[in-house]
Amino acid sequence: MANVTVIGAQWGDEGKGKIVDWLASRADAVVRFQGGHNAGHTLVVGDQVYKLSLLPSGIVTGTLSIIGNGVVLDPWHLKAEIEKLEGQGVVINTENFAIADNCPLILPIHRDLDGLRETAAGSGKIGTTGRGIGPAYEDKVGRRAIRVCDLAHLDALDSQLDRLCAHHDALRAGFGEPPVDRRRLLDDLKEIAPYVLQYAQPVWKRLKKVRKAGARVLFEGAQGVLLDVDHGTYPFVTSSNTVSGTAASGSGLGPNATGFVLGIVKAYTTRVGSGPFPTELEDEVGQRLGERGHEFGTVTGRKRRCGWFDAVIVRQSCAVSGVTGIALTKLDVLDGFETIKICTGYRLNGKILDYLPSHSADQANVEPIYEDMPGWQETTAGARSWADLPAQAIKYVQRIQELIETPVALVSTSPEREDTILVRDPFAD
Ligand code: GDP
Ligand code: IMO
Ligand code: MG
Repeated sequence: MANVTVIGAQWGDEGKGKIVDWLASRADAVVRFQGGHNAGHTLVVGDQVYKLSLLPSGIVTGTLSIIGNGVVLDPWHLKAEIEKLEGQGVVINTENFAIADNCPLILPIHRDLDGLRETAAGSGKIGTTGRGIGPAYEDKVGRRAIRVCDLAHLDALDSQLDRLCAHHDALRAGFGEPPVDRRRLLDDLKEIAPYVLQYAQPVWKRLKKVRKAGARVLFEGAQGVLLDVDHGTYPFVTSSNTVSGTAASGSGLGPNATGFVLGIVKAYTTRVGSGPFPTELEDEVGQRLGERGHEFGTVTGRKRRCGWFDAVIVRQSCAVSGVTGIALTKLDVLDGFETIKICTGYRLNGKILDYLPSHSADQANVEPIYEDMPGWQETTAGARSWADLPAQAIKYVQRIQELIETPVALVSTSPEREDTILVRDPFAD
């Protein structure tokens, strides 16, 4: 049975949430498999706008929604986000929502450390979301994390807290901060534990059952391939693997479960935070893209950096993530441009490159090679079929699919759920 894995193929904010919400009504389960509440996914359904950071976007359609073991979970944020969505009429209960009991927790000390490090980093600042993501993942691989299942054993947490605090106290001392307040941390965890535990279970088992019944699973990635800790613009990346392969390890299923890999690709490029961005436009064109695309971060409210479409990075993302087809989003933002540029390669030290090199300095120094395409003056906003698109817009989409060597499966033409053109159904067997 066909499953679909949605991942971002640029630097995040490609419109994953909208596409996952659109596909969710045809899925039996939606699973988040990495990242945490650093993500910001905006869904627009009629006059309602839903902003999700931690919960799978499938929750809005009432589809079984699962937080997999690959996610780092802030329990207090979880409660706040659920309450906010419930306030908007979304139903969330133990029938339609589950959390992996082996999921590591983001604690207040992780947020502290994220902030302290960023402040001290000077020009090396990553521009994180400040939500403790990096430090929480470090404690996971450092075997110091407190996990969801520990919330049911808080009276036996002493030896784990010794390990965790020994590490954090040394770091905090270096920043001139007092040691971890163990009593307070334990009290806070005791208070939140029952809330989280009602949803906790071995989700690999639930997913095994779901698959056995022939159900369709939709994996929802956060961030984007260029923010992947291995394949991204290191060190200006997030602390998880955002590529499609993580869907398996981050949920407790094998790699054959990932199915159709749908790369979400914006019709131009944006980035939040620091780091190389070859096609960045610091002029009125970049400003126009930002204004027309409402490019402000959902999580931090920061202005997103904007630039032309970069076919080099998307081709690379599609390769390293095994993308079957892409969803091209925000095509409408390009309406009315006289000329549209596409980056087809880079120039570095007199050489032509058809890929993004691994070293940060090289990434910062590559000069984009552009190809010009005539724009279109008609509107594509709200188009729901290929026939609704002006000829030049179709040519633009076709040129992109040629350059990235990957077919287009969907085109999105507005924030609204239904303003989506289906070219090839990712769920079709
Ligand atoms: P995500 O993090 O990948 O889920 O993306 P975000 O939700 O952070 O950012 C995408 C923004 O663009 C959201 O505000 C969406 O509502 C909006 N959006 C999604 N698709 C389209 C589209 O096709 N056209 C326009 N104009 N906006 C879109
Ligand atoms: P969605 O799922 C865009 C960026 C941050 C920073 C870097 C590291 O909405 O696409 P972190 O807090 O993860 O340690 O920050 O990664 N970043 C995102 N950028 N969209 C996101 O998520 C992001 N999540 C993290 O801005 O540059
Ligand atoms: Mg986002």
